[in-house]
Amino acid sequence: MKVDSKEIDTFLVKLLTQVGETLRENSIKKMSVATKKNRNDLVTNFDKQTERFVNGAIKHAYPDATIVSEEGYGDLVKDMSGLVFFVDPIDGTMNFVKRGDDFASMIGVYIDGEPLNGAIIDVMDNEIYHGGKEIGLFINDKKIDDPKDLPLVEGLVDVSAPMALMDKFSVQDVIKKSSGFRVYGSAGIIFGHLLTGKEVMYMSYLAPWDLAAGRVMCEAAGLNVVSIDGAPINMLESQVVIVGTQKVVSEALKTLKTR
Ligand code: IPD
Ligand code: CA
Ligand code: CA
Ligand code: CA
Repeated sequence: MKVDSKEIDTFLVKLLTQVGETLRENSIKKMSVATKKNRNDLVTNFDKQTERFVNGAIKHAYPDATIVSEEGYGDLVKDMSGLVFFVDPIDGTMNFVKRGDDFASMIGVYIDGEPLNGAIIDVMDNEIYHGGKEIGLFINDKKIDDPKDLPLVEGLVDVSAPMALMDKFSVQDVIKKSSGFRVYGSAGIIFGHLLTGKEVMYMSYLAPWDLAAGRVMCEAAGLNVVSIDGAPINMLESQVVIVGTQKVVSEALKTLKTR
């Protein structure tokens, strides 16, 4: 299948620009909040509204594509053949509800299983990280350079709160070797930090829509994206993922106790 990465990039940036405008207006309106798996797993009317809007736009522009998305308006995708879009309408819903800041919207695009394009909007800062291996990486219109391959001792790491608290894999040993530890509560916001070298590692249990856009762009930037057990990333399953500089990921894999 022939696809034009530049054309998809233009489409994604236009779409996330519209999503950003709407979410900034909505973040000051009254929202309805419901819980999903537990009391800290939230979904709002705006998560659902955004997903319906984004998925509709994708189906209109790319009728043959399939969509994997969080809130139930996507397709039942069983394999990665053809053009597959991954949609996380609001990433960091807890931040959206409690703080009105540090939340994102993300779209990742894969072709026959290969990472193609990613786009993430930091909604309140109105910054769109976008691009891919073929076209390079940008924040809005500005091209960004690849982050430096820093070692653990020279950088900040971000680990999701549940992962740091349960310390199942001795994550705390990795944290202790770093410059320090941050928890931002939105994978999308953290991918932005990794792409700009503000943090050197992220570790979290991520669903396909949490990972898709960030994986495309982090790999294009020369960062390493691995599943904790060393198995290839499976884009149709949730898994514990480590993303970071080449040096940090290899140090982390040596330090973590994965069995
Ligand atoms: C969550 C956030 C959070 C990460 C969770 C995700 P959501 O996404 O990215 O930082 O630790 O694993 O599920 O549910 O707000 O889209
Ligand atoms: Ca969610
Ligand atoms: Ca998410
Ligand atoms: Ca979400």
